[in-house]
Amino acid sequence: MPSHLKLEELVQDSRVHRRIYLEQEIFDLEMERIFESNWVFVGHESEVAETGDYKTVPIGTQPAIMTRDEHGDIHLLMNRCMHRGSTICQEHRGNSSAFRCWYHGWTYNNKGDLIGVPYADGYGSTFDRSKFSLIKAARVESYRGLVFASLSPDVERLTDYLANAKHYIDLFMDLSPAGEVEARSGVHKYGYDGNWKFQMENGVDGYHPNFVHQAFFETQGKGLGRKVMQLFTGNSDFESKDLGNGHAILDMAPKHRSGKGPVSNLLRGATSQASSDAYVSDMTRRYGEVRTAQIFAASNVNLAIFPNLLIIGVQLRMTIPVRAKRTDVHLLPTTLKGVPDEINVARLRAHEAFYGSAGGGAPDDVEMFNRCSDGLRVKGAEWLELSRGIERERAADDGIMVGHITDETPQRAFYRRWKALMCGIVAESQSQQTKALRVARTV
Ligand code: FES
Ligand SMILES: [Fe+2]
Repeated sequence: MPSHLKLEELVQDSRVHRRIYLEQEIFDLEMERIFESNWVFVGHESEVAETGDYKTVPIGTQPAIMTRDEHGDIHLLMNRCMHRGSTICQEHRGNSSAFRCWYHGWTYNNKGDLIGVPYADGYGSTFDRSKFSLIKAARVESYRGLVFASLSPDVERLTDYLANAKHYIDLFMDLSPAGEVEARSGVHKYGYDGNWKFQMENGVDGYHPNFVHQAFFETQGKGLGRKVMQLFTGNSDFESKDLGNGHAILDMAPKHRSGKGPVSNLLRGATSQASSDAYVSDMTRRYGEVRTAQIFAASNVNLAIFPNLLIIGVQLRMTIPVRAKRTDVHLLPTTLKGVPDEINVARLRAHEAFYGSAGGGAPDDVEMFNRCSDGLRVKGAEWLELSRGIERERAADDGIMVGHITDETPQRAFYRRWKALMCGIVAESQSQQTKALRVARTV
């Protein structure tokens, strides 16, 4: 039994060991070396659009509050009273200029300063309120409305971190003729008894849809269902791409067609011709015909940003690790700024059909995570195979590694990054990542 394996040996080029999904000790290291040392997605700017808006969100397993102060700045305050440790905010979201701890009443403004201490004369003359500000994330940066935080100050600029994924984030945001999406339509939450990495692997897995989602596709009507299933067959001409730093995409932009088809595909025939025409003409006015076609062609998106963000369909999906065998997931469906209401309604209805709690698709994925968690209890079969396409993937001119849409190129990208962070390797480029020196650490 290879239980003596070192951490670096648990993730290999084409396979990963079952221990990385099961062991709490490895999970605890993931929190320390991935979620508490690097950029993680915490939300969208529109969730705290107004002065005083806030929402609670974990960074790894640590509770935090995302706030917007009166200067418009966004803060990530750790949700921990500096008196004796209680969380100071229990609401999921709201609007307040201050947070008062329920335990003994210490009060903080939404920048984290301690502004009120009940019966303050009980403290000695050396008591200094300024030393009791809430702890804050060391870095907070946004890209196109996506807010990321890092508990460590020693991280590269967010725009550098996002690497080649920026191009695809731009395409997603540019579906709005105003260049902005909003995530203010509520949050759909689910959880499962399994590891957080199952969700991240699955969001850019083009091998599974025709099996896990067969029933959904078949209920779409023969023509449309069959068309969708063709995206994910061995004969499909679509691709999966390793975008660097663990980010990856299933690129389903038609390569030999104009962008006109996907407009109707996106809206699923659910809007009037007038709304559709108005939308297309506003887009063309802003971006020009060529870029508009490119934006619509890319509208069918499955994009993973390491370690915890998926952009799928119209939604931002945050994966929240709870413990080795428990994960929460938050889905934030987005709407487009500057389009007829009918367009946004159609986007939300399409989202609900597949991803909603009574949707035809996402619950099936969750069932697979549960089944994998069960199956991995079997001892003797220690490895999960991730070699699909390893011999046919190729490096494109821009350095992006490209595989077939059904290949496991995205999962290998994820685990290269995982290994780099977990084993203390900082690779400067994609090719160096694959050759990176290994630092032996045992768990
Ligand atoms: S723990 Fe917050 S005021 Fe005492
Ligand atoms: Fe799926």
